[in-house]
Amino acid sequence: MPVITCVEDLRRLAKRRVPKMFYDYADSGAWTESTYRANETDFGRIKLRQRVAVDMRDRTLASTMIGIPVAMPLALAPTGLTGMQHADGEILAARAAAKAGVPFTLSTMSICSIEDVAENTNAPFWFQLYVMRDKVFVERLIDRAKAAQCSALVLTLDLQILGQRHKDIRNGLTAPPRMTVPNIINLATKPRWCLDMLRTKRRTFRNIAGHAEGVTDLSSLSAWTAEQFDPALSWDDVKRIKDRWGGKLILKGILDAEDAVKAAESGADAIIVSNHGGRQLDGALSSIAALPAIVAAVGDRIEVLMDGGVRSGQDVIKAVALGARGVFIGRAFLYGLGAGGEAGVTKTLEVIRKELDITMALCGLRDIQRVDGNIIAENPFAVR
Ligand code: GLV
Repeated sequence: MPVITCVEDLRRLAKRRVPKMFYDYADSGAWTESTYRANETDFGRIKLRQRVAVDMRDRTLASTMIGIPVAMPLALAPTGLTGMQHADGEILAARAAAKAGVPFTLSTMSICSIEDVAENTNAPFWFQLYVMRDKVFVERLIDRAKAAQCSALVLTLDLQILGQRHKDIRNGLTAPPRMTVPNIINLATKPRWCLDMLRTKRRTFRNIAGHAEGVTDLSSLSAWTAEQFDPALSWDDVKRIKDRWGGKLILKGILDAEDAVKAAESGADAIIVSNHGGRQLDGALSSIAALPAIVAAVGDRIEVLMDGGVRSGQDVIKAVALGARGVFIGRAFLYGLGAGGEAGVTKTLEVIRKELDITMALCGLRDIQRVDGNIIAENPFAVR
């Protein structure tokens, strides 16, 4: 791998190595992509206090998320089609996460199945659930996650209707890709990706194919997923799912303080302040801009986590300073995966860890659990 200094280096490499339709799937947002961009740029508007002449020896980034020890306050986010950024992507990312001591979250829309990831990794992972109209299928997914001993269920609340992503429409996204002329021409420039993909049997949505009624192949599957996300999802469903699951529950996709209050009342263990990486409601607040008001509303009642735009250790420390117990990274690890498989994800985690450690030290602190609003010099999103 060439010299990698930051996540942006990995993104550039991934763009060269991953077929266009899958690279674009990761590196895009809904409609004008304004929220997608703001997720990243709003972090830059928050300024840190530089401190000097403080003892910076013996630093620690160890913390907990939902009571689970983590080597740094960060988890891998559930991302769809991860196994299309690189063959066997979910298994490779889960292994890299386990080695780094941080949680991996498997998406419902993954290529490797729950069982497959459980068999091929040796650390418990978290499972993300989409609520579909087919209630029996949803219940079976919950039971499969329990059988695989997943240590948390991440219930996504912001994707009852799919946001419109222009790049995916233009690219005619499918997994595996259809053999159209533009796709064949593009795949011919990605020999490493193609060879790895030919060697694996994991090339479609294996959590779903063969498990959901009437889904046997991919063409019926894409139609099925578009029809199947449940537009009638309600807080009653959250309760039903919580009762069936019985373990740690995280609600993902909270961006408004009123919803955060309802989430806290639901008895869930944590919320993820999230706009789905800017892939759903374009024009919504960035996650980091939404975080302070949500922490003010419910921070004393429920653990608050966040995702969206986290590309560096500096972003992690800013989110923690604003009240998040931890963050999730999606694209940042997908770029690593596309750039270099398991080693690439490890690289992402090392880069972020180092940036986090150095930033904490230069802010005059030695323990991530002591980071709070005191390290912030300017925050345009502060609650007045
Ligand atoms: C799925 O989670 C997506 O955002 O594509």
